Amino acid sequence: MKFNTTRLLAAVTLAYGAALSAHAATITMSCGTNAADLEYCGKYAEEWAKKNGHTIKMYSPPASTTDNLALLRQQFAAKSSDFDVLMIDVVWPGVIKDHLVDLKKYSKGAESKHFPAIVANNTVDGKLLGMPFFTDAGLLFYRKDLVEKYGLKAPNTWDELTAAATKIQEGERKAGSADFQGFVFQAKAYEGLSCDALEWVASFGGGEIVDKAGNITINNPGAAKALDTAASWVGTIAPGGVLNYNEEDARGVWQNGKAAFMRNWPYAWSLGQAADSPIKGKIGVAALPGGSGAGAKKAATLGGWQLAVSKYSKNVDAAAALVMYMTSPEIQKKRAVGGSYNPTIPELYKDKDIVTANPFMGELLDVFTNAVARPATATGLKYPEVSNAFWDAAHDVMEKKATGAEAVKKLEGKLKQIKRAKW
Ligand code: GLC
Repeated sequence: MKFNTTRLLAAVTLAYGAALSAHAATITMSCGTNAADLEYCGKYAEEWAKKNGHTIKMYSPPASTTDNLALLRQQFAAKSSDFDVLMIDVVWPGVIKDHLVDLKKYSKGAESKHFPAIVANNTVDGKLLGMPFFTDAGLLFYRKDLVEKYGLKAPNTWDELTAAATKIQEGERKAGSADFQGFVFQAKAYEGLSCDALEWVASFGGGEIVDKAGNITINNPGAAKALDTAASWVGTIAPGGVLNYNEEDARGVWQNGKAAFMRNWPYAWSLGQAADSPIKGKIGVAALPGGSGAGAKKAATLGGWQLAVSKYSKNVDAAAALVMYMTSPEIQKKRAVGGSYNPTIPELYKDKDIVTANPFMGELLDVFTNAVARPATATGLKYPEVSNAFWDAAHDVMEKKATGAEAVKKLEGKLKQIKRAKW
């Protein structure tokens, strides 16, 4: 019998195609929303999909983590299969635990390579609900060139920051930069303000809102002083508009060369150092300043994101495989080098390429390992309400609607109502 090679090849190709399409899935995935997220998340997911015969559909979540969570909760309530892979905030596992797949079957122990505290955070009722994707902590970004020009140093305390920001702002405005700002941060009423305000409160020895045992601790003089201090920046070293700033608003002012100091997350490093950035080469990164009074210290809020699979996904196996790929050391390294996303794998902090691209990851390692967690584990399903009450209180003080002492007293009452008998 004589083979017709062309026919045979065509048949094989057809069969192969059919096999592929039998398993081919379209996976809808969300990464973050800024330029680096799309570049350093979407790109690798596409590469994976191509290799494995799948298709990726990117879904761009709302910019604010608060709105992002609200939208997801609506989708979960409707048991929607529209999303497969979700990028979830470090404070969400306890809130959306009923809607996520246990990844243990897929991870085959790979989680043991990651920071144990993050894995513990992502494990609820014994189920691994998210694979760590990147970790975060609040940092102080400063203009090295301006600090030097005015004969200053990176500030160690909030008082020093206030003095330095005042001096640089005055000088730069006199020199013709009329809209120059001393300090920009996040003070819009949303989760980002809870992160900034927790840093202020913890740095003044004011605790963590609710302690690990579930006690409400916010009504104390350190917390009140912290909020009063932050309120004193609004309209002096920070623009009045900061009351409506999220991360990207602050970064916009900063990266345009219009601010001396910025509080933000590590992602702002790679964007600020990009070839087209007006402040490339002028950026210093330090731990956030410390407060004063009893128990004062330097404090950074712990942030970070995980990849999870929706329980309502119709492609759980493929979605979980994508999660394992995206959280692997190989991809975390690429994301760290290119996008300054802090890896969740301790071993990678010894990687020369990563620390050369992001010197702060090596120099400030203790900021990341000692970061202060928001009380999400202690308050479980009620965390979103707790955080909302906290950012409202902080916003009131910053708008000068209440003093720090009044706000933390009222907040204590509100938190008691939310808690009732137990969290
Ligand atoms: C960053 C952090 C996240 C936090 C959010 C607040 O994305 O990683 O944990 O909730 O900022 O805006």
